[in-house]
Amino acid sequence: MCGIVGYTGHQKAVDVLLDALSSLEYRGYDSSGISIFEGTKIDTIKSLGRLDQLRERIDSQKKVFSGTCGIGHTRWATHGEPSDVNAHPHTTKKLSLVHNGIIENYVQIRQKLQADGYKFVSRTDTETAAHLLDRLYTGDPMGAIRQLCSFLEGSYAFAVLFWDHPGEVYGVCKGCPLIAAKGKEENFLVSDIPAILPYTRDYVLLEEGDLVKITADSILIQDSEGKEKIPNVQQAQWNMEQAQKGGYPHFMLKEIYEQPKALRDTIHPRIVDGLPDFAIEDSIPDGFWRQFDRISIVACGTAWHAGMLGKGLIERLARIPVECEIASEFRYRSPLLDRRTLVILISQSGETADTLAALRLARESGSTTLAVVNVTGSTIAREADYVIHTFAGPEIAVASTKAFSVQLAVMYLIAIKLALAGGRCQPDEARSLIHNLLEAIEATLKVFDLDSAIQKYAQSYVELKDLFFLGRGLDYSLAMEGSLKLKEISYIHCEAYAAGELKHGTISLITPGTPVIALATQDALLSKTLSNVREVISRGAEILLLCKDTFTPESELAGKCILLPALDDLFMPFVGVIALQLLAYHTAVFRDCDVDKPRNLAKSVTVE
Ligand code: AGP
Repeated sequence: MCGIVGYTGHQKAVDVLLDALSSLEYRGYDSSGISIFEGTKIDTIKSLGRLDQLRERIDSQKKVFSGTCGIGHTRWATHGEPSDVNAHPHTTKKLSLVHNGIIENYVQIRQKLQADGYKFVSRTDTETAAHLLDRLYTGDPMGAIRQLCSFLEGSYAFAVLFWDHPGEVYGVCKGCPLIAAKGKEENFLVSDIPAILPYTRDYVLLEEGDLVKITADSILIQDSEGKEKIPNVQQAQWNMEQAQKGGYPHFMLKEIYEQPKALRDTIHPRIVDGLPDFAIEDSIPDGFWRQFDRISIVACGTAWHAGMLGKGLIERLARIPVECEIASEFRYRSPLLDRRTLVILISQSGETADTLAALRLARESGSTTLAVVNVTGSTIAREADYVIHTFAGPEIAVASTKAFSVQLAVMYLIAIKLALAGGRCQPDEARSLIHNLLEAIEATLKVFDLDSAIQKYAQSYVELKDLFFLGRGLDYSLAMEGSLKLKEISYIHCEAYAAGELKHGTISLITPGTPVIALATQDALLSKTLSNVREVISRGAEILLLCKDTFTPESELAGKCILLPALDDLFMPFVGVIALQLLAYHTAVFRDCDVDKPRNLAKSVTVE
């Protein structure tokens, strides 16, 4: 998720671009840049780091920008670590371009362009689009952009300056937002509303495939066929903070709702011919997956829960023994590691001190390390032997939601890849699993229909002090995540227990009225879990059951169920976790907690 701004009008473009970009830094802030028409020349400057570092570079290089038309960008790196050269805009002789989104087939396009002599300086997917557009451009900006789109797969929003069209900014969007905004003798092209609020509230939300050209006094929109569209001008009602949250009351709720897109962005580029593929996107050769006879997954917090689910998947599908450990324990217990052990480190931030220490210990022990991280260029990403980047975009809320789901999805791909490499499943079986994975990703949308029902249960939790989560198998790992989500933002003391373990002591805590959330999404374990549920009900527990919508609850459970879209057992965590996230979120809101910044917590724990 990056920030795009295009401007053309009567003001100095450098002032407007930097100001507008600063309100988009929540969308990406590891590097930034601007391109401005200075006379008939396009002048570009960009910098690693926050926007202030770009300002400092403009000053230190004594760059004087007087032009009134330009584009700017704040980057959230996906392809190519944060650096000056990977920062946008990307320029060619004919154009300057900024991009938000993920071009899923950029490697194939780049290879063809390189074969034709194009030279690349960055490792970004964006530069591929810039060179391809340059090749296609013969004087008609809209026509060239339309042709570019016919070659690209994935999601993108572009803003472009063409060298021989001073004063004009062009754009197109597919799968990423792009907004044209109408000012007084000035117009804007931005990736999100906050950028325009200081200047105007009149905006046009471009639709899928729309192309746009803005000049100081006009906004021209065409559909993907080239037919002109009448701009549907709307009035922005939000203030800046509301706009940065996309109208959601909290970043956490926005990020919960971003999960379907985050999952598609992360998984689609890694499926080729219906099978998991890490060779193209992540440069991990197929032979890599055949060389290990043991796997150790190491992480903290929510990432550890994704690892616990990953353990279950890999052992079930690939039949390889997996340990999944909390990094702060792993690093001090002299773990048994060798060359045949693959150590997988999962981390949203890529900076968690305990996980980083575990990575270093694994490398010292001669094990191969594979990192699954959401922040490109983070320390863990840079130090691991191999890295798989998740494409969830910036996760601002301290409580991790969309990062968990994309970590989980990557664990499914890894489990299927290992099963194929080890001969534990045939390509057709793997294709069927991948089909189920893609179906699960789309099924996540249906969980949002349960939001108001979930709010009712959350309302009943407002005064709680303690709450138990129960589950078996994958549901037990999911119960741990549900418990962490609820306790870290609502401050209710929650514990997750393996449902079969209750009778070994914990059930003594169950008294009349004790709230218990039972996860029963696994058909294979349903009867066992239901017996545990009956055990706690018989001791007076107040149950909330999460199960498939194909399950008919017995009378004593009627009205106490969250019925989830029914999927194959293996894929139920995708829909179960969203229900648990919404439950935790609404409970914390009803308890008037600081949802995005819970007490005592930090987004990235870079200390021991
Ligand atoms: C998750 O909701 C928590 N905020 C926390 O447990 C987090 O998952 C943990 O600190 C690991 O962070 P990382 O994924 O950035 O390594």
